[in-house]
Amino acid sequence: MSRILLGVAGGIAAYKACLLLRRFTEVGHEVTVVPTPNALNFVGETTWAALSGRPVHTQVWADAHAVPHVTLGRAADLVVVAPATADLVARAASGRADDLLTNVLLTATCPVLMAPAMHTEMWLHPATQANVATLRARGVIVLDPDSGRLTGADTGPGRLPEPSEIEQVALSLLDSSVTGVARSRDLEGVRLTVSAGGTREALDPVRYLGNASSGRMGLALARAALLRGAEVRVVAGAITAAVPGGAELVEVVSTADLAEAMTVAAADSDLLIMAAAPADFTPASPSQGKLKKQGDAPLTVRFTQTTDVLAGLVRRRRPDQVIVGFAAETAGSASELMELGRAKLARKGCDLLVLNDVSGGAVFGAADNRVVILDPRGVVDTVAGDKNIVAHRILDAVATSRKSNR
Ligand code: CTP
Repeated sequence: MSRILLGVAGGIAAYKACLLLRRFTEVGHEVTVVPTPNALNFVGETTWAALSGRPVHTQVWADAHAVPHVTLGRAADLVVVAPATADLVARAASGRADDLLTNVLLTATCPVLMAPAMHTEMWLHPATQANVATLRARGVIVLDPDSGRLTGADTGPGRLPEPSEIEQVALSLLDSSVTGVARSRDLEGVRLTVSAGGTREALDPVRYLGNASSGRMGLALARAALLRGAEVRVVAGAITAAVPGGAELVEVVSTADLAEAMTVAAADSDLLIMAAAPADFTPASPSQGKLKKQGDAPLTVRFTQTTDVLAGLVRRRRPDQVIVGFAAETAGSASELMELGRAKLARKGCDLLVLNDVSGGAVFGAADNRVVILDPRGVVDTVAGDKNIVAHRILDAVATSRKSNR
């Protein structure tokens, strides 16, 4: 159980912070809510109190004997401000202490995560961008907003990321090694393309051959790289969750589409990660019309092999590019798993191979993963746990590999 202080600024997205609060409490964290006076125009104190099960702090002047403007910030393990409005970002950047939340921000020594939400013009305004840069330089972790529908009919960057997205980033920051790399933005300037999810090969216009991949590992890698300052593009097959805000999305269906999209992406990427689960076989001649039953006769479909996307990327790589592959293996023992991994790394020729045991389908769609990271010299790291934490350890291995490549 950690103590999370949830700061809420005065924007319409304050209602989404109720869902975020629920998510934190459901996984057992103690949440104290500090809304700004303007936030109370959108969601009242009663709602925050009922959802958090704790007193809500709204003013510097209340409970003065307990010195809340100092104690609240000091007591927290993590401060999350969602939504962070343009005004809140500006006040925090200039070190103001004109309400309880800005006092908290000046006294908190724990990690601070801000999820901005505002109209596109306000987000893109040089003043806001300069304030965000100031906050980041000081170690505040500021998420990029989502793009999409805003309050009115307008669309663009400025939406509050989904509560599940903020939750995943926030909880990963409870791990101190993640906080360190998020604060230092050690992947700033790195252009990453990561593939995620399963591909689908059409049998006929309505049926396809697919697989159980959820895309969670690829999305966790995208999320982790964004947090560390990278420019991220996700080439996504079938995925079960949204792509994190700030990432570019390229959608594909089949392995052939994936091969094409990755080849295009490779031209301007420093780092390529193949976390997708491409189908290895595709129907030799997909039916133009819907396949019909032919009496009791069984259906026979001939499949041909698809292109090996990863092997193609390795063949055409630039000397400064780092390429990471995944290996999904069903092995009878740990030593057999390692043998399969070493052989696949040698066959594919990538810089790093993330090896996981998928016996029983345990990994697909799950929140956790257990992986061994290999390079041509041997085991680099072994990690088990939440896919977001695993993603950071993979990126740590990538950062080391990039240094030794130079
Ligand atoms: N991969 C790829 N193109 C394919 C199949 C897989 O680029 N047509 C990539 C995967 O994204 C992964 C790596 O290759 O990064 C290994 O995938 P995996 O399914 O473990 O191995 P395969 O190459 O399919 O080999 P096999 O099924 O024989 O183990």
